[in-house]
Amino acid sequence: MVFILTEKSIKREQWGSKLGFVLAAVGSAVGLGNLWGFAYRSSQGGGAAFVLLYILVVLVVCLPIFVAEFALGRNTSTSAFLAPIKAAGPRWAPLGWLFLIAPLAIASYYAVIMGWTADIFIQSLFVGLPLNPEESSSLFDSIHSGKRDLIGQIFSLGLGAYIISGGIKKGIEKLNKICIPILFIILISLAIWAAFLTNSGVGYRNFLLNFDINQLANPTTIRNAFSQAFFSLSLGIGIMITYASYLNKKSDLPKQAIQIASLDTIVGLMAGLITFPIIFSFGLGETISKSTIATLFITIPSGLGQYGSIGRLVAILFFGLAYIAAITSLISLLEIPVATLIDKFKIKRNLASILTVGFTFIIGIPSALSTNILGNIDAIANVLLILGGFLVSFLVGWVIPKTLDIELKNSGSSSLTKAYLKFMLKYVTPIIVAWGLIISVYDLLKGWLS
Ligand code: TRP
Repeated sequence: MVFILTEKSIKREQWGSKLGFVLAAVGSAVGLGNLWGFAYRSSQGGGAAFVLLYILVVLVVCLPIFVAEFALGRNTSTSAFLAPIKAAGPRWAPLGWLFLIAPLAIASYYAVIMGWTADIFIQSLFVGLPLNPEESSSLFDSIHSGKRDLIGQIFSLGLGAYIISGGIKKGIEKLNKICIPILFIILISLAIWAAFLTNSGVGYRNFLLNFDINQLANPTTIRNAFSQAFFSLSLGIGIMITYASYLNKKSDLPKQAIQIASLDTIVGLMAGLITFPIIFSFGLGETISKSTIATLFITIPSGLGQYGSIGRLVAILFFGLAYIAAITSLISLLEIPVATLIDKFKIKRNLASILTVGFTFIIGIPSALSTNILGNIDAIANVLLILGGFLVSFLVGWVIPKTLDIELKNSGSSSLTKAYLKFMLKYVTPIIVAWGLIISVYDLLKGWLS
């Protein structure tokens, strides 16, 4: 009985400040998706064409959905699992389930990749880097074989549980206030360093300047652009609903959505400005074009390994940066189930965190044991994000437009902003996301069947 609280004793926590909320949302958005997903997806889908599509998806689709998630969260003041029912009735309960299952699925393999990141960080700090791609491959094989993998995963989940059990202000907000500034400092320093590498120009050209117009119609590039936009912005599965449920009534939602999306996109682009010069300066372009999830964990260490002690320092900073970015994202994924347990079953945050992390660990074991399974869960989860994005825009645009009205009014938005967002969420965003969803499902199935 100690863990059961009465309805009255639970007062919903709130963010300490507007900045705290924005930093937490940026912390959720900026993660492995920016540092690793952006590079590997843009190299798969032909550089600049992918980047262009990605930016279009962010502007036309993701920004309105951001505001829709914020409006839903702040208006209902409840976790993403319960918000659709509270806003639109029991028929929308399946959306709540999507918001519960998808973050758990992502957290399950995200923690595994964080384990790899921590392992390479420790390796760079205490042992040194591999000197060529072969050594790097065998290092990676040993990292993701069985026990070492599980230890990294458990460590990351344990850290996540520890932070999240501290609560909104003293756990999530505090961590982000410390981590986000550090993250930007490291990122800018590394981008400057990378600019001076011998072949940085070739890297930039492959990343941003290699524009192949045919790629714009390639289903894989389109799927990659949608997946990257949703994944990188933590959109489509209720993270932003949950975070906004701890907001007070006054903050300006559209403005905050723009701030968060811009910072996240800048980090994605800057990460490309770091990884591509490294990859091309060390002649690893071949490897990256056949890219899989694991590629960066092999190419970056072996590239930097050829660069002596400076390379080692850069590796420590890069993988340290990736880990910091990842922990602030992991806790946002864990917060949905935790908030759901608290809101629905009225159990204490500590217990909710332990239960969530324990469950996430168990369902993540297959991903820890096989990168193939991990890749497939990632691919499915990315389609679920797009599906969730479609349903949220449809819900807010068509079913509960009044909620949007109220929240935009509370935000103090201008009438132009209001009209624009209402129009987008009704007539533009749902249609484009539906199109992206169909292409993504088609492309995913085609990949599986071939
Ligand atoms: N956005 C994070 C990244 O780029 C990952 C993440 C956190 C996420 N929360 C999410 C992805 C919710 C999708 C949905 O690494």
